[in-house]
Amino acid sequence: MKSNPADIDGLDKSALPSHIAVIMDGNGRWAQKKLLNRVKGHEKGADTVRMVVRSCREIGISFLTLYAFSTENWQRPKVEVSALMVLLKKFLVSERQEMVINNIRFNVIGEKERLPANVQVEIQRTRDATKDNDGMYLNLALSYGARSEIVKAAREIARQVQSGRLSVDAITQKTISSHLYTADIPDPELLIRTGGEMRISNFLLWQIAYAEIAVTDTLWPDFTRNELIQILKEYQGRDRRFGRV
Ligand code: FPP
Repeated sequence: MKSNPADIDGLDKSALPSHIAVIMDGNGRWAQKKLLNRVKGHEKGADTVRMVVRSCREIGISFLTLYAFSTENWQRPKVEVSALMVLLKKFLVSERQEMVINNIRFNVIGEKERLPANVQVEIQRTRDATKDNDGMYLNLALSYGARSEIVKAAREIARQVQSGRLSVDAITQKTISSHLYTADIPDPELLIRTGGEMRISNFLLWQIAYAEIAVTDTLWPDFTRNELIQILKEYQGRDRRFGRV
């Protein structure tokens, strides 16, 4: 019988996180260390994105959310922002067919309307081409900020109250969750951050309430499938108590 790659990796298939969120940090430092332009780091980082998407699909992860561009990232030098947008567009065009073949459904969370029109077009094409897929759900966080996401949710809920469609006492945690970009998917059980910084950087603040956090010093372009497997093994060894004893 053909063995399953996830078995080879020695992972307990029944105890995988269903949703992994990743803060992909360290592209700039990777480039600096090699005396290269920061954009080279992002280019190499895009290769790591491909590898991680493929690996998560093979391992059997159901939801993967990658922090590719934050609302704060708009303040980077114009050339770097433009280069990131070009890379994104290239990624969408070059990976679309692979997502279709591998049964991956693609989505973007964040202020899509702030992205260049040509990137928005490719996002829509990729969403359309993958909308019926159910092997893995890939979310790219683009122009994403968790506080803005929560403000947006609060405004939508307030409007419902104002118009009499919702009573104040009917507002629950579910109400908030259902107004976030991630309304239709479960919260991440595992948050991975590369690049060694011990912060959340305005990523999925509401959704990671009970997530296990794994921070690695490895810079994103150097992150490997092996390290992903190691992190998953470590996750499987953790005792998740959700505040209970
Ligand atoms: C953080 O590194 C990374 C980003 C701001 C962007 C992430 C982008 C990619 C991984 C490549 C393109 C993405 C796709 C989906 C094709 P940094 O520049 O903050 O690194 P530093 O902390 O070392 O400066």
